[in-house]
Amino acid sequence: MKELKGKVNQLRELINSANFNYYILDNPTISDAEYDRLMRELQNLENEHPELITTDSPTQRVGAKPLSEFNTITHRIPLLSLDNAMGENEIREFVARIYKGLPPGEIVQFVCEPKIDGLAIELAYENGTFISGSTRGDGVTGEDITQNLKTIRSIPLSLRKGNFPIPSLIEVRGEVYMDREDFKRLNEQQLKEGKTLFANPRNSAAGSLRQLDPKVTVKRPLNIFCYSMGACEGISFSTHSEFLKALPSWGFRVNPLIELYNNADELVNYSRKIESIRNSISYDIDGVVFKVNSFAQQETLGIKSRSPRWAIAGKFKAQQEVTQILEIEASVGRTGAITPVAHLKPVNISGVTVSNATLHNQDEITRKDIREKDWVVIQRAGDVIPQVVKVITEHRSGNYPPYILPDTCQSCGTTVTQILGEVKHRCPNISCPARIKRSIQHFVSKRAIDIDGLGDKLVEQLVDEGLIKNVADLYFLKKDILANLERMADKSAQNIVDAIENSKSTTLARFIYALGIRNVGEYMGKVLEKSFGSLEKLMSASYEELESIEGVGPIVAQSIRNFFDEKANINTINRLIEGRIKISEITYTTEVKRFEGKTFVFTGTLSSITRDEAKDLVEKFGGKASSSVSKKTDYVVVGENPGSKAAKAKELGVKIISEDELLDFGE
Ligand code: IVH
Repeated sequence: MKELKGKVNQLRELINSANFNYYILDNPTISDAEYDRLMRELQNLENEHPELITTDSPTQRVGAKPLSEFNTITHRIPLLSLDNAMGENEIREFVARIYKGLPPGEIVQFVCEPKIDGLAIELAYENGTFISGSTRGDGVTGEDITQNLKTIRSIPLSLRKGNFPIPSLIEVRGEVYMDREDFKRLNEQQLKEGKTLFANPRNSAAGSLRQLDPKVTVKRPLNIFCYSMGACEGISFSTHSEFLKALPSWGFRVNPLIELYNNADELVNYSRKIESIRNSISYDIDGVVFKVNSFAQQETLGIKSRSPRWAIAGKFKAQQEVTQILEIEASVGRTGAITPVAHLKPVNISGVTVSNATLHNQDEITRKDIREKDWVVIQRAGDVIPQVVKVITEHRSGNYPPYILPDTCQSCGTTVTQILGEVKHRCPNISCPARIKRSIQHFVSKRAIDIDGLGDKLVEQLVDEGLIKNVADLYFLKKDILANLERMADKSAQNIVDAIENSKSTTLARFIYALGIRNVGEYMGKVLEKSFGSLEKLMSASYEELESIEGVGPIVAQSIRNFFDEKANINTINRLIEGRIKISEITYTTEVKRFEGKTFVFTGTLSSITRDEAKDLVEKFGGKASSSVSKKTDYVVVGENPGSKAAKAKELGVKIISEDELLDFGE
């Protein structure tokens, strides 16, 4: 037996080091045939002696069964995004800002990296073993895609013992992507099999990671570059470049084009150099990233809202195409802001069909002299809404006059206004049907209150028929009235009523986001939920209190105050509460943090609360919900028909509690 164990270990080491040489050192040492032979030999031994299988064995990259849905994982440390620097001047401004934010005389080094156009993910390792991997999600919580990430051979299942000690916990962040050639081949295959084609390598990487069945993901040629650190215990680094040195030693893939530079000129040169080789590297990049190297300096500079002050993305010029404007529409948003939108003859720009482009405001239209039926250059930069770069005036035919935004709202006929100093025109009428429709559509949307089945068209219909005038009216709608609407049947009316009923219990973060306060998005909803815990406290918070919160600046603080100072908004909130909307309150700020630092894992079906509610409860009292059991887990909460996690907990000696015990704790 001992001999067998030795053989198994030897095979694993040979396979792991072949992987390391191939993926990390880019220097293959054995042939594919030899690799396959080693894998088969290991697989055979493990088949005969299943007791020897370990979770980090190379045979375990695909083993897991298809999931019915992904669990969520709350990131220990939120994943931030990056501010953009457009053009060389903004790179120089960034460097100047960094120096201004640091004590005089400090020297700054910058790590310069290509910005990979893929999907941000996070990998967690406990005592050297890969335990979970997740998508970025909204930065606070992401999806648990552990079993899909395991299929990527350039992700180590256990950390290599190299020049750096194995930390008790390390979270490594990076970008999963697909090489352009592999993407083409995959699409050819999809075409042959009559399956839908992916628009670009990024979408195909995303689609591959979203597979519920890891057997599909394993066939997709995914790869990864690692570039930043999340939580870390048991080792410390003083610079980002030092961390980047540790990564390959542990077995992670790091981009070979990363360099260290010292001043703005060098950063600009780096950006030019990477842009010039953009098309000759095998994967898509959409810019460069500059990061202050010293962690101490990063700390001093801090973060603002969702992005760090110590880093920036230098975006490359976007891809452009030519097409024609069919017509221009003055569309009214939920705050009354009027945005001219160009409806275009559909055009494909780097794999995505574009049929609308924002024209922003009248100033922009006048400056670029954009007219209906004009031929225009359109650009799309990453996920950004397509824009008109310029008009090709030589192609202008016919006699279309310069475009002027109508001086009355296209929806309600009210004269539009322009606040001094603002470029946007607005419809000032808070009862404007277009404004009402947009704000209700926002309120019911999936990431807000989430009323399933209440689509944009139906909201328009309800407003047009005079059945609802604001979001609160939804909660007083009767089924019979809905059933009488055109294109509505008894069953669909019942579904809507049920969905409205279901939406009544919600979280404070969702509720805040749903209100549609200017400058308050989803992430800010979570920040405010965490800081205030209840709607009453948020509503009565002063400007100063709001502004003192990390991540809330003067503009956001003022928008929140303005919103709650508006009587009509208070009336709507009161009517929502009258309509029995129930917002779960969070008491993060009180001393009752009885789960502080404790990690919980759930298994089986809970009976009196849902899994999400249970997770909220744990978080409310300062604990963390995780999706896999390890020695670090404090409690495994067992519901009906528990899965293998209960067995694993027993094996590791982790405390097992029932649902009732959890609820008693929370009391
Ligand atoms: S660092 C605060 N480095 O860009 C640190 N991000 O706009 C944030 N990305 O969500 C991430 N290449 O998906 C970093 N070398 C790189 C990157 C990179 C691509 C993506 C990542 C992130 C987004 C931020």
